[in-house]
Amino acid sequence: MTDLKLQLTKLFEETFNAQPNHFFQAPGRVNLIGEHTDYNDGFVLPCAIDYQTMIAASLREDDKVVVTAANYDGQKTEFVLNRPIPASKGAKWSNYLRGVATTLLKKGYSVKGANLAIAGNVPQGAGLSSSASLEVVTGLALSRLSGLEISLKDLALTGQEAENHYVGVNCGIMDQMVSALGENDHAMLLDCRSLDTRSVAIPEDAAVVIINSNKKRGLVDSEYNTRRSQCEQVASHFKVKALRDISLEDLEEQKSQLDELAYRQARHVITENARTLTAAEVLPTGNLKLMGQLMAQSHASMRDDFEITVPQIDAIVEIVKGVIGERGGVRMTGGGFGGCVVALAPTDLVDDIQSAIDQQYFDRTGLTADIYVCNASQGTSVLI
Ligand code: GLA
Repeated sequence: MTDLKLQLTKLFEETFNAQPNHFFQAPGRVNLIGEHTDYNDGFVLPCAIDYQTMIAASLREDDKVVVTAANYDGQKTEFVLNRPIPASKGAKWSNYLRGVATTLLKKGYSVKGANLAIAGNVPQGAGLSSSASLEVVTGLALSRLSGLEISLKDLALTGQEAENHYVGVNCGIMDQMVSALGENDHAMLLDCRSLDTRSVAIPEDAAVVIINSNKKRGLVDSEYNTRRSQCEQVASHFKVKALRDISLEDLEEQKSQLDELAYRQARHVITENARTLTAAEVLPTGNLKLMGQLMAQSHASMRDDFEITVPQIDAIVEIVKGVIGERGGVRMTGGGFGGCVVALAPTDLVDDIQSAIDQQYFDRTGLTADIYVCNASQGTSVLI
């Protein structure tokens, strides 16, 4: 049994005086390329990672959901299903579950009461989608316990709706889709307009290395929302639904009509969409040199045009680039303003990346970084 499963079984037994009947999991994610493109109806190329949120569960006879969380010292909270579910002030972590339950009920599903114990090892606040993994695993647990056949895509949409309308974070659809539908050893090319997906093989000798800057992601929500509305304003200037619908030529033609910052931010989204589509072709061929160029362009575009990197993140990218040179790629990943960097590099360079970070990052920033070497993993699943 995995550590998480053991931990959960113990917590469940202590809390509910019974054995759990079911286990469910959903992973966090890392985005290889395609940043701030999802809410512009564009393209992203994330993979699910082998860090996950897990739920141990059994059905109840009444319509209550009682839930306890290992990551919050076994804190326990409960809500009743067949009336409006209030947000919790004391157990904020439970608002993701409350939001998912509310959304399922709003969609007309009949959800049954349940005892749930939750534990996760996705680093929180690092931009690796611990929240999306909690939303998706909650959706899977509540729907499967209630005998509801909801597709994984609809569970992803349910998670996003809970986050947008219950928790109040205006995220796109990338995180929930890959947490629901990721595949072992593959990244997922997602068209965020049609929600079509395509599996993109990650070459066997390439390691997915995540470096957590441990820079607290300040202002992330407000800056995220500002970027989002700036993109929407440029789209409405062009009278199109989303930036997905305009080309670089369209943008250049109207450059003098646009505010300088708005122009650069739109340029990031348009060029990032093109890079993401190219990367989805290049990655399976194993051409890490070309992947490296695309990732470097992506990072520069996030830093100079979209303005979402911070000095600590730029430092990690420089340190890692110094090790891998043309043999792989490195860029900031996720929403920005701190969080993580992702590198795709030959497996034989992983130790050198680790030592370079150990030797240089603290001296340059006064912070220490955490490194996770990940495998692209399956999306949400029922565990035996
Ligand atoms: C966050 C959001 C995603 C996406 C990324 C940026 O992770 O939750 O929907 O917008 O930022 O690519």
